[in-house]
Amino acid sequence: MNDSKKRNGRFALLALLAALSSAPVAAAIDLRDYDNDLMRDLDKTIKYFEPDITAQNAEAAKEDAEILLNGFKYTEDYFKKKGAADAVEISRKGLQVVGDAIKNIDQNDFDAAAASAREAPQLCKSCHDIYKPRLAR
Ligand code: HEC
Repeated sequence: MNDSKKRNGRFALLALLAALSSAPVAAAIDLRDYDNDLMRDLDKTIKYFEPDITAQNAEAAKEDAEILLNGFKYTEDYFKKKGAADAVEISRKGLQVVGDAIKNIDQNDFDAAAASAREAPQLCKSCHDIYKPRLAR
């Protein structure tokens, strides 16, 4: 392949990327070092969290909570490094609602714990609405 052809190809790719990144995404940060395996773990865990609480399975619910706390801690640190204050705020709120759920589980107040647990997925979603690229998958 001659050089100018190669360059044209690269130029077309850059143009495409520029077009994609001008899509109405509120915030663009470089996510190449983001831990998607952890996200998938969170995704599995969040599905069991509230059901484990309503089944009054304190041990399982607290295992779920531990994973979710790690997840929100990870996102807090990650987005702090990226200087994304809104994502840090969402992560802290996540730590708070999961922490509240644990406290209520420890006091055998499973209704209150479930109410806290129900707030967690909304926090996942509110961060995704801002920072998760829509076109990626
Ligand atoms: C503060 C921001 C933030 C929070 C909180 C957050 N996420 Fe994410 N999540 C992201 C971003 C950003 C991506 C996209 C990363 C990428 O494109 O590489 C993502 C990606 C994902 C993915 C796709 C992973 C893949 O590539 O297969 C899943 C699933 C997911 N998140 C689940 C969750 C769940 C469940 C929670 C809550 C318990 C959560 N996330 C909380 C920011 C967040």
